[in-house]
Amino acid sequence: MKRVLVTGGAGFIGSHLSEALLARGDQVTVIDDESTGAAANLDQIMGQPGFEFVPGSVADETLTRRLLADVDEVYHLAAAVGVALIASQPMETIQRNIYPTEFILTALRDRIKKGERVKCFLASTSEVYGKNPKPTWNEEDDLVLGPTTRPRWSYGASKAIDEFLGLASWREYEVPVVIGRFFNVVGPRQTGAYGMVLPRFVEAALCGQPLLVHDDGQQIRCFAHVNDVVAAVLGLMQAEDAVGQVVNIGSDQPVSILELAERVIAASQSDSKVEFQSYAAAYDESFEDIRRRVPDLSKLRGLIGHRPAFDLDGIIATVIDAQRSA
Ligand SMILES: NC(=O)c1ccc[n+]([C@@H]2O[C@H](COP(=O)([O-])OP(=O)(O)OC[C@H]3O[C@@H](n4cnc5c(N)ncnc54)[C@H](O)[C@@H]3O)[C@@H](O)[C@H]2O)c1
Repeated sequence: MKRVLVTGGAGFIGSHLSEALLARGDQVTVIDDESTGAAANLDQIMGQPGFEFVPGSVADETLTRRLLADVDEVYHLAAAVGVALIASQPMETIQRNIYPTEFILTALRDRIKKGERVKCFLASTSEVYGKNPKPTWNEEDDLVLGPTTRPRWSYGASKAIDEFLGLASWREYEVPVVIGRFFNVVGPRQTGAYGMVLPRFVEAALCGQPLLVHDDGQQIRCFAHVNDVVAAVLGLMQAEDAVGQVVNIGSDQPVSILELAERVIAASQSDSKVEFQSYAAAYDESFEDIRRRVPDLSKLRGLIGHRPAFDLDGIIATVIDAQRSA
């Protein structure tokens, strides 16, 4: 049995990951300040033997170091997440995303000095590729971020710093770090409150409200079900070859945002219509979007032979079911 710490475990991905770790037989501790997550996401496992929820911030160095003192594995997911949140609170994004990662890695370096090897998964993001114009992105591609005057890029830049810190900790101190670059992850419990598109569309369709599609809706994205993403994370953490690697995690099946809206309307048998909204109205004048975001998943497949269980229709159906029964 492993003792595992999940930071941000009351969030969307973290809560599913915590359930899977507990089901695997691990002893799981979650730390979360409920800034964008909620303890209610852990209802299914709260109170179960082997599970502990610690309300608090990973920015509390004393608390986090204490939690890190005797764990065997760490999954660091706590971060400022969501395009809308990042555009409105860039300072918060930078602070939340960089400093805790730095001292988590330092604490794990101290464990290495004692001869204790603690594997660490760092949750990164496709946002680090910025607006790279290539049709598919592989892990060796350039990061093409926009100017610092546009706050949106602070998210990708801060996660890129996390990646540099993780890779440096591995190269210089042999801290075993696995970095996953998540593309769009969706599924039950994801909130639309911070600009996430699928829960927003489903909520609107179920209420008969218009689905607000930004710009012309021709932005291309790939949506992966959270269960498939959790399976990939667990697989990578068991693959010794993944240590010291950066790996894309997600789906590689592209769909336009307009088509996504139309498929949500059809799947929920809604009378809702699509309405187009400018970026300036949705965010502000400084907002810049990414036209196409499709991962090359060869590395993920090579490392763990990953095969997703859900296609897009299956994903949309699970999100509709979850919102209907909420
Ligand atoms: N959902 C996606 O599509 C996606 C895509 C790319 C990357 N990611 C990354 O995956 C991770 C999880 O994202 P998510 O979608 O589950 O978002 P989420 O907002 O649901 O989860 C983040 C969790 O971290 C918590 N948190 C934030 N700052 C904290 C702090 N200082 N101390 C303790 N807890 C804190 C929040 O309360 C929340 O529960 C993040 O690192 C995010 O950057 C997600």
